[in-house]
Amino acid sequence: MREGHQGTGPGAITPDGCAVELYSRLPVGAEPDIVASAVPAGARILELGSGVGRMTRPLLERGFAVTAVDESAEMLEHVRGARTICGPVEHLDLGETFDAVMLASFLVHAGDVEVRRGLLSACARHVAEGGCVLIQREGEDYHTNVPRERVDPSGFTVRIVSAEPVGDGVDSVHVEYEFPDAVWTQTFRARPLTAEQFEEALAEAGLRVDRYLTEDGTWVRAVPVGQG
Ligand SMILES: C[S@@+](CC[C@H](N)C(=O)[O-])C[C@H]1O[C@@H](n2cnc3c(N)ncnc32)[C@H](O)[C@@H]1O
Repeated sequence: MREGHQGTGPGAITPDGCAVELYSRLPVGAEPDIVASAVPAGARILELGSGVGRMTRPLLERGFAVTAVDESAEMLEHVRGARTICGPVEHLDLGETFDAVMLASFLVHAGDVEVRRGLLSACARHVAEGGCVLIQREGEDYHTNVPRERVDPSGFTVRIVSAEPVGDGVDSVHVEYEFPDAVWTQTFRARPLTAEQFEEALAEAGLRVDRYLTEDGTWVRAVPVGQG
């Protein structure tokens, strides 16, 4: 397990505390459309931290060619129709580039600064000339509006139970997913980032914001520094 990460509930749990069966059940929202709005038709997409392919599938259906990367073989077993690569993103070096690199699911908020650097460097290393990096950030009140709860129309409840400081600007976040027949929890370390801190982290990796794709600033299109 990654330090400070933990998961409970039925089935396999990934090193960052995610439950494989839970992610097979979660519906996909607007994310594939947000991605599709920011990349050219038919783009080759490198999806980092793909999990079971919740987003991979709708991206394939929209005509993109997806390479899905995850450090959990149990997650990747569920991915269909995409090339899969198993391993930690921070060490990924495929020797090829992609029209778009996706770093979703708030992975950029890694508590460990070295891991965050590794993730953003992997993004920069794999983006083609003229391409882009699509990053999903936490909403502004992610760590402060707790506890909070959302009842999903598909029949489960997600609760962000707590976000407790554990030092060095990092919080330990505890989340519960309650389904009629099962409950999963995940505890993980996450570092809140202001827009300024986020943009500094990008700059360190040789990336800059091209534009924010959503009004709440959670989806960002970044490009290599120096790219027009
Ligand atoms: C919260 S899940 C989200 C999965 C998928 N993006 C989705 O939205 O359904 C995070 C996934 O990223 C993977 N992951 C987290 N950190 C990783 C890392 N540093 N390298 C490779 N995979 C990682 C986990 O194994 C897990 O499958």
